[in-house]
Amino acid sequence: MFDDLRQFLAALEARGKLEQVRGADWDLEIGTINELVSEKQGPGLLFDEVKGYPPGFRIATNLLHHKIGQKLALGLAEDMTDLEVVRVWKDWMKQYRPLPPKVVPDGPVFENILSDQDVDLFKIPAPKWHMHDGGRYIGTGVITITRDPDEGWVNFGTYRVMIQDEKTLAFYASPGKHATIMREKYWAKGEPCPVAMCFGQDLLLFCLSTMPIPWGTPEYDVAGYLRKKPVEVVEGKATGLPIPATAEIVAEGFSPPPDQDSRPEGPFGEWQGYYASGSRQEPVVHVKNLYFRNDPILFGQPPVKPPVNTWFPIPIHTASYLWDRLEEAGMMGVQGVYVHGPGNRIIAVISLKQRYPGHARQLATLAGAFLQGGACTGRYIITVDDDIDPSNLDEVLWAVCTRADPETAISIVPGFLTSPLDPMLSPEHRQRKQFTTAKVFVDACWPYHWKDKAPPVNRASDELRQKATAKFKDLFDRV
Ligand SMILES: Cc1cc2nc3c(=O)[nH]c(=O)nc-3n(C[C@H](O)[C@H](O)[C@H](O)COP(=O)(O)O)c2cc1C
Repeated sequence: MFDDLRQFLAALEARGKLEQVRGADWDLEIGTINELVSEKQGPGLLFDEVKGYPPGFRIATNLLHHKIGQKLALGLAEDMTDLEVVRVWKDWMKQYRPLPPKVVPDGPVFENILSDQDVDLFKIPAPKWHMHDGGRYIGTGVITITRDPDEGWVNFGTYRVMIQDEKTLAFYASPGKHATIMREKYWAKGEPCPVAMCFGQDLLLFCLSTMPIPWGTPEYDVAGYLRKKPVEVVEGKATGLPIPATAEIVAEGFSPPPDQDSRPEGPFGEWQGYYASGSRQEPVVHVKNLYFRNDPILFGQPPVKPPVNTWFPIPIHTASYLWDRLEEAGMMGVQGVYVHGPGNRIIAVISLKQRYPGHARQLATLAGAFLQGGACTGRYIITVDDDIDPSNLDEVLWAVCTRADPETAISIVPGFLTSPLDPMLSPEHRQRKQFTTAKVFVDACWPYHWKDKAPPVNRASDELRQKATAKFKDLFDRV
């Protein structure tokens, strides 16, 4: 694992997975290049000499869209299968023991400090990523740090951030997100919420920032546990919030109650492939200090229209979380859990060894309850038998097509929490903030009461295959 973004980029470069791009324009060109390269599942990109900016003010994108990037960032062996990755991550998180961050007096993040009147967010070459974005988004690969005013623990989460003017940022955090809850607690007391936003840092921190780590568990402690050493942090000079000492770019300040200041945020090209949430008044941060390293690197993680996967190619964030929750709930027989679809959130597949009537439905119902919050999350929940690899969507579809009679195998249950980013919210629902979606449960397991009479699968046995492979070795060496 790495101490900062630079070490990660060096590791990617050593594997031939990083390209340098010089002279691109922050205004749509960088976003378009990123889109084209991610469509080709191409390498990570490091932009320098951005139009209108001094050399050295760089932007890194497309770092986690390929499996090597994801495995490097998370310290996973490069030869693991996709389902192994999910299983290993689940087991690591199960054995979690907190390792809190260590406060250090100084760090590279303080190499340059612009305070109060000198704060100028436009010093950073934040791109306008997509054609209809409402402005320049400095925060796409961001971690936003807040402290709970009552409980004192520190959270960080990824919520997009738009520049409003030299000293003001607007940030969009959905209902129920930890920063949303924390900032509302400050505002209820009439106080501004202290906030620090990092726009480039070790990618392990970023990955954790996007995962549903439970309320009360600081992501810093999880990062320390995974790295096997505490994350070194400096204290923000205005807020006292812990900031990664090796962060690239950090804005720190205060978010006033929205009735004192809020600004139009969006539209923004979102991960479902639309500009669904349009533009709304959202909370802001008045920036007191802008910190950045020499030759800072802005990390960009802008969404691209599906089927391009702009997030983890292996869905550890959702799949391992769901798998763990099902086991914690005492469910037996779960063989594997995987998540497919845009953002790796929408189609959850659970493979199980059926033990009793209703087993598959019970798992699907629990999964529907556990997977909530993000737009469209867990909209489709498919249960399959244990001979189906849940990470292989073709196999899953084979089971859906051949083991699920639509008349009895599909149930639609309305009323689950989604988010304002859900493209299927009607204008009326959006207006009255009815952020709910139905979920579809597809039971693609053989019906329990006659599963023993299910027709045999047309596939040579492992023994036959091994014998044929050994006997015709020349052939199988060639094909
Ligand atoms: C690339 C990326 C961008 C995201 N952007 C947002 C966002 O703008 N707003 C939001 O509420 N959630 C966003 N999320 C989801 C949250 O980061 C995620 O739910 C995370 O768990 C939130 O942290 P929290 O649980 O500490 O609130 C994003 C996730 C990813 C992977």
